[in-house]
Amino acid sequence: MSVHIAAKNGEIAETVLLPGDPLRAKFVAENFLENPVQYSSVRNMLGFTGTYKGKKLSVQGTGMGTPSISIYVNELFKDYGVKRAIRIGTAGSLHKDVRLRDLVLAMSACTDSGANKIRFGGRDFAPTASFALIKTAWEIASAKGWEPKAGPVVSSDMFYTEDPDEWKLWAKFGCLALEMECAELYTLAAKYSRQALGILTISDSLITGEATSAEERQTTFTRMMEVALETAIS
Ligand code: HPA
Repeated sequence: MSVHIAAKNGEIAETVLLPGDPLRAKFVAENFLENPVQYSSVRNMLGFTGTYKGKKLSVQGTGMGTPSISIYVNELFKDYGVKRAIRIGTAGSLHKDVRLRDLVLAMSACTDSGANKIRFGGRDFAPTASFALIKTAWEIASAKGWEPKAGPVVSSDMFYTEDPDEWKLWAKFGCLALEMECAELYTLAAKYSRQALGILTISDSLITGEATSAEERQTTFTRMMEVALETAIS
């Protein structure tokens, strides 16, 4: 038991997939894992453990944004000894060559969050993905012909910004996509010497304002899942 996760010791696998939405965790468990067992429903932030191709794997909802993912990932690393954490989520495109439905592997994560300002006392930390995981995910997605993009993303604490053009500064500096969790995930992985990766699908574009349909989201979700699952057991 940890403060926010009700699993007993040993009930969570060494590798965990992390969707923001707890119902997505349930969907992944029921549709992609063999023999899934729900280990926690504290605050409805569902977590499941099953197997994929015979290997033990967990999937845990994180909620949206830095403070929420921080709580779950802290406890997964510190209290449950999780070794590899793979975020699966959506992001908004900041780059003309990153199109709706594209797969983005978040190599590094810039952030406007206050978390690392507090943690590092004003110094800058560079939240970075695990090279081993990103290399594996890249190879898996490329072999399937899905042309993944890898590069920096932005993890913002603000979905609704005061300045609607705020994203343009990040875009000018080469960031590919905007989401809300990778920077904290990568920072905690560094703190605990664990591996982390964010695998993202582009659900909308800040450049054009277009968004994917529900049907398109389903197809791209399945692709992202295949990459995440194969990376998880590699
Ligand atoms: N902003 C933040 N997070 C997101 C977005 C966005 O535009 N799209 C998907 N996740």
